[in-house]
Amino acid sequence: MAETQVALDSAGVTTLKHLALDGALEGETKVSCSGLAERLGASTQTASRRLQRLEDGGYVTREIVSDGQWITISDKGERNLKAEYEAYRRIFEGKRSVSLTGTVTSGMGEGRHYITLPGYMEQFRDKLGYEPFAGTLNIDLTPESIRERARLDAVEPITISGWESDERTYGPAYCYPATLTSDECTYEDASIVAPERTHHGDDHLEVIAPEKLRDTCSLTDGTEVTVHVTE
Ligand code: CDP
Repeated sequence: MAETQVALDSAGVTTLKHLALDGALEGETKVSCSGLAERLGASTQTASRRLQRLEDGGYVTREIVSDGQWITISDKGERNLKAEYEAYRRIFEGKRSVSLTGTVTSGMGEGRHYITLPGYMEQFRDKLGYEPFAGTLNIDLTPESIRERARLDAVEPITISGWESDERTYGPAYCYPATLTSDECTYEDASIVAPERTHHGDDHLEVIAPEKLRDTCSLTDGTEVTVHVTE
C-alpha cells in the first residue's frame, strides 16, 4: 500500500516500542494481534487498527499470514523510536538540547562564497573535522523556533576565528554541531553556522555539512526539517 501522511501519535509510538521489544527492528518478526493486544492493554480490534495505521504511515512493513503477521519496523519507524529515546535521554541524563524547526529555502548564493574562503575553510577542517560542502542550507524558522533559538546561548559553540585578507577583515563565526532530521532522513554531521554568538529574532538558520544535504536528504524548498543541537 502507498505510504500516506499518517502522523505517529503516542499510541503508535507505544505499539512500535512493543514491536521493537519483540525484535521487529532487526527484521521480520511474527506478531499475533491478540498477543500484542494483551501487552497494550487494548482489544484485539484496537491492536489490529494500530498496526494498520503504522503500515499506512510507512512505519512498518508487514505480511499477513493465516495465523498472524510478519512485521518489520521501517527506517522511518526506527527514526521515530529514536526521537522518543532522545527525549528520555534528555529527561534522565539532563542533556540540554535545542531543537529548531523550519522549512528549507533558497538564499542568495552567498553561503557558497563565504564557506569556500580559505581562512574559514581551513578552520572548518581543523575544528569540525571535515571540509564542508561549498554552501549553506538556509532554513526559515517557525515563530516558535525563532524564540527557541535564544536557548542556543546556553550551548558552547565551536568558534571559527575572524581573519584578514589583503583587502578586508572577515568576522568570526560560531558553529553548533547538530543533527538534521526530516521525515525521510537523519543526518548527524551537520552544523549550524552563525556570524554572531546569538542573534535574537533572527528568523533563519544556516547549516553546513560535509555533503550536499539537498541531495543526501532529498530536500527541496519547503521541506520541513528540524535541527537538533545537544550539548
Ligand atoms: O543560494 P543559496 O544561498 O541558498 O545557496 P549556497 O549557500 O550557495 O548553497 C548552494 C546550494 O546548496 C543551495 O541550494 C543550498 O541549499 C545547498 N546546500 C546543501 O544542500 N547542503 C549543504 N550542506 C549546503 C548547501
